[in-house]
Amino acid sequence: MAFRVQSQSFWRATAKLATVPRVTTPAPQWIRNYAVDQRKRTAIVTGSARGIGKAIALRLAQDGYDICVNDIPANKAGAEEVVSEIKGLGRNAFPYMADVSNLKEVESLVGASVSELGDLNAMIANAGIAQVKGLLDLTEQDLRRMFEVNVYGVYNCYSTAAKQMIKQGGGGKILGAASIVAFKPFPLLSHYSASKWAVRGLTQAMAMELATHKITVNAYAPGIVGTAMWDLIDEELGKLKGAKKGDTIKKYTDELIALGRTSVPEDVSNTVSFLASKDSDYMTGQTIVIDGGIIFT
Ligand SMILES: NC(=O)c1ccc[n+]([C@@H]2O[C@H](COP(=O)([O-])OP(=O)(O)OC[C@H]3O[C@@H](n4cnc5c(N)ncnc54)[C@H](O)[C@@H]3O)[C@@H](O)[C@H]2O)c1
Repeated sequence: MAFRVQSQSFWRATAKLATVPRVTTPAPQWIRNYAVDQRKRTAIVTGSARGIGKAIALRLAQDGYDICVNDIPANKAGAEEVVSEIKGLGRNAFPYMADVSNLKEVESLVGASVSELGDLNAMIANAGIAQVKGLLDLTEQDLRRMFEVNVYGVYNCYSTAAKQMIKQGGGGKILGAASIVAFKPFPLLSHYSASKWAVRGLTQAMAMELATHKITVNAYAPGIVGTAMWDLIDEELGKLKGAKKGDTIKKYTDELIALGRTSVPEDVSNTVSFLASKDSDYMTGQTIVIDGGIIFT
């Protein structure tokens, strides 16, 4: 029969034994490799002047990140407000206006974040646009702009952040905004859906190529979140289907969402917090659905 002694009682048992140095087993190599320094962390959150991006910026600040709040110049005032809120939480932050679809601007964004806040530990490629239009009505420009922001924009953020993190040498976290439509498209949001499928594919491919640098790459896939983006979708779908403002989002919520309520940005930022923390160090290449139960992966 095995004889067991509680370790605490054992070490208290004799004064002599208690002076013997205790041998602690170090964490396995893979855990130590992926862990980002928890004492000082920085993140860039694109499209964070409002909506889901704003909730992510505030949540990561609460988690201890200093934040570069990015958006386009038209939303500068919103970005400055988010910066003030973050400073109110006791973290450092600054606003930086850049269009993610422009590689040079993204390179300047990353450069500014590093010189203002220090090494870059997390890139949240959140900025995105939506458009409600039938596939056969799309202009070449509609399709091009959708892919410039939602796909080239994410690529620009992923790749520029990855190059910076590789230069630093300490690994990092890269995240992108996908959507449930990256699993099953919504009609009339079809080119938007295709752009989000591309984000999911890019996330998987980047995860494979960046693993060797201890950089994890994951995406979050929100469902129907009550933001300016869904105000637009609700209004445009309503016009096409003859529904009043607010009726379409209510109908989708009632008919599609198992948990029975429209999502709020904090539903998404809770999961992003996990994906940007060391608790997700062994996850990469995943697209995590947060939709109250619309799509089951
Ligand atoms: N709202 C939803 O239901 C929902 C669902 C699934 C996925 N998403 C995705 O989540 C992300 C955030 O969505 P949201 O609902 O907060 O949208 P939103 O429109 O409220 O906010 C998006 C922000 O991105 C900024 N932005 C747009 N183009 C940009 C560019 N080229 N460069 C920099 N910033 C730019 C906008 O100015 C805005 O502040 C998007 O990628 C969106 O596709 C949203």
